[in-house]
Amino acid sequence: MNARAALKKNDVMTNFSPPPSARKFDLAKTYRPIESELKATTEALREALRRSDPAFARYLDYSFELGGKRLRPALLLLSGRAWGAIERRHRLCAAALEMIHTGSLIHDDILDGAKFRRQLETFNAKWDSKRAVLVGDILITLALDMICECDDPVVFREISAKCRATVEGELFQTDSSGNFELTVEDYRRIVLGKTASLIECSTFLGGYLSGARDAELELFATFGRSIGVAFQIVDDVLDLVGDEEKTGKTLGSDLANKKATLPVIRYLESASESDARRFRDRVERGVRPEERAEIAALLRESGAVDAAFTDANRLIDEALATLTTLERRAEELGRPSSSDAFESLAAVARFVVGRDR
Ligand code: IPE
Ligand code: IPE
Ligand code: MG
Ligand code: MG
Repeated sequence: MNARAALKKNDVMTNFSPPPSARKFDLAKTYRPIESELKATTEALREALRRSDPAFARYLDYSFELGGKRLRPALLLLSGRAWGAIERRHRLCAAALEMIHTGSLIHDDILDGAKFRRQLETFNAKWDSKRAVLVGDILITLALDMICECDDPVVFREISAKCRATVEGELFQTDSSGNFELTVEDYRRIVLGKTASLIECSTFLGGYLSGARDAELELFATFGRSIGVAFQIVDDVLDLVGDEEKTGKTLGSDLANKKATLPVIRYLESASESDARRFRDRVERGVRPEERAEIAALLRESGAVDAAFTDANRLIDEALATLTTLERRAEELGRPSSSDAFESLAAVARFVVGRDR
């Protein structure tokens, strides 16, 4: 059975209907202002993969087949275009960040015991965890090559700090497994690290490489950070109530791994003491994939899913306000920027909360 058919068979009916707006999202259209740059970035990625020993081409080619939404390179290129022109260093950094992101997903799937990713089998399922660790590492070193070509200490420092924050977020989450006393603040700390840091890195570097400095550069970072946290909140909601066929990845793994994500934290906050205890005991005993639909219904009916969406929407409103300030500054400073790029950045922000994949 191929991976797609397996995902379809695995899935449980959660009765989740994404917001009607989800169907309207057309990422290809959103990426149009940077279409050719994104293509060139994909070429740079492909070329970098060839630097590794041909003996490992089967692994690296497979990593390339894992398509993904290309959100981080698109955000970097759109941020760059929003402030000025795109040049080679934007493409190198965009390719490097996508490669680091892919490496971190290959590692994450080992941690989470996931079987599918981007509509294909994960490395740990197709081969084993040993190879998954090593291929993830190769991708990260190939990214380092591209970063070196940028020859800019600000770029080095930014990427190394954000990579460390990503791993620290994953480690904090691993250390927090089974802790259902986790607060919203703890959750935010995990997510700022494991997800928002690379997204922030994308918008920061896009702006930086196009000449943004000081207060405006900080606005690029703030924009990325807000959509990054919102992105993970929605990912965590989808893990509970989403569709495996649409997301193309194993869902339900957060509860199976005893992670207290925001919808769960919001549920525990509002549930009676006895309901909260029953929920914790149930997760402690281990949640099987067949139970996902029932738990999804419980969280949805309790209002916890809506509460998490409210948190995510608030962040997106903040992100859109930041973007408006940035666009005004671009005009005041007479930047050679593109209003289409600003429009697409706003569309990406809206996609983050409206998505079903
Ligand atoms: C998945 O990221 C991991 C999270 C941070 C939630 P994406 O949803 O951007 O994954 P791809 O790149 O589209 O596969
Ligand atoms: C973490 O989040 C992904 C990384 C930042 C590496 P998840 O574990 O929720 O991501 P998915 O759902 O597997 O894509
Ligand atoms: Mg995971
Ligand atoms: Mg997830």
